Amino acid sequence: MAIGIDLIIENGTVVFNGNILKTDIAIENGKIIKIGNRNHFPAAERVINAEGKLVFPGAIDTHTHFEQPFMGEVPPETWDQGTIAAAFGGNTMHIDFVVQEHGKSLLDAIKAKVSYVDALSAIDFSFHACFTDFSDMDMIRAEVRKIIEYGIPSFKEYMTYRKEGYFVNDGELYQLLREVQKFGGIVGVHAENTFIAESLIEEFLKEGKKSAKYHPLAKPNFVEAEAIQRAISIANFAGARLYVVHLSTKEGLHLIKEAKCRGEPIFAETCPHYLTLTDDVYSRPDGINYIMSPPLRKKDDIEALWKGLSDGTISVTGTDHIAYTSEQKRRHSETFANVPNGVPGVELRLPIMYSEGVRKGRISLTRMVDICSTNAAKLFGLYPKKGAILPGSDADIVIFDPKIEKTITVETLHMGTDYTIYEGMKVTGWPVITILRGKVIVENESYLGKKGDGSFIKGRIVDEIIDTV
Ligand code: URP
Ligand code: ZN
Repeated sequence: MAIGIDLIIENGTVVFNGNILKTDIAIENGKIIKIGNRNHFPAAERVINAEGKLVFPGAIDTHTHFEQPFMGEVPPETWDQGTIAAAFGGNTMHIDFVVQEHGKSLLDAIKAKVSYVDALSAIDFSFHACFTDFSDMDMIRAEVRKIIEYGIPSFKEYMTYRKEGYFVNDGELYQLLREVQKFGGIVGVHAENTFIAESLIEEFLKEGKKSAKYHPLAKPNFVEAEAIQRAISIANFAGARLYVVHLSTKEGLHLIKEAKCRGEPIFAETCPHYLTLTDDVYSRPDGINYIMSPPLRKKDDIEALWKGLSDGTISVTGTDHIAYTSEQKRRHSETFANVPNGVPGVELRLPIMYSEGVRKGRISLTRMVDICSTNAAKLFGLYPKKGAILPGSDADIVIFDPKIEKTITVETLHMGTDYTIYEGMKVTGWPVITILRGKVIVENESYLGKKGDGSFIKGRIVDEIIDTV
């Protein structure tokens, strides 16, 4: 037997590409080199026995906002702290955002962020590029091409947040969709009809209706669905791909399903909170801690979204993680409209998707792997380097114990905030080992990596691959 490979994972139940297979994995120099019976592998420096455990490709969170200033607050969670929490959650990669400062180059901001994050990140990373200043369309056109060539094929635009200076109008969105499509990228939208939401907010505030329970009433399902409908029409007119981020409503889901049935390249993401929590929480004393946009919905939306994940209407999940503290939320709580939007969650996606999805029979185990990892890699041009358990793929692997029972509490989590929206939720199944490019970075509830282990991963969308999502 030849000596010398780095790692063997043996006896695990490997879930990937629609298969569930009891097999072994050989890893060398950060790559998967063989899958099969370990008797045919060379000896390894380390063998992990994954008997009784599930072995998934490392999870990819499609939607995080680490250290992002927004609505008057910067979350105190640092980049390394947030990505370590992500690693505890079984993530080996995440896609964050670079938001253009008005009047400045987005490409320059992306390059600066890549070099800043490179020294800090515990897991691999990329970004969605977000234009906010459309006053010079020629500059945007030039930047789109360069950003895609740089390795960032995905953009994200806000159809809301006018006050915050993020809003894109329909003409600007159309122009961007056309330009991005020309160079093979994809545009995501945060879909909310800002004008209707703003008018409802104004109405409520005038009537003295300022508490958290008015947040979902100011942004009812129609606010999301109308914007999705419009974005789908505009993307269709532009002949472009569209990605709807953090889908929350059954109405929006229906529109996406119809567009997909017409053969339009429309993709969607949803988040664990839209799959588990209802808008009842906004009437609780700590209701402000649940303020995010779009807001939490009703039970029938939750069930529709699970169906959408199962039938392929929704392709991926991300957490929309933003770790404000409860004090930061409280500071702006005089009216619901000023509370910084967003909730923490990067550490909890896998246990929630397994417990609420697989164990409750709403999605299959193979579908869980697709929507937590593989499809993200396919959608954003990272596959099969990422999101795969195949020879030649990066050895990004999470070993998941399907028997561990836990009650979620902020006390034992690693995110940089003082609360979790899932406090008290019982889950079965927990990620126990996270491996980033062959290196064990989480094991025995300890972080074993170091700052800067993560690298920027360039993406390039491949038509034949994205067509399989
Ligand atoms: O409520 C949310 N989603 N906060 C983060 C900012 C955004 O909308 O992306
Ligand atoms: Zn977001």
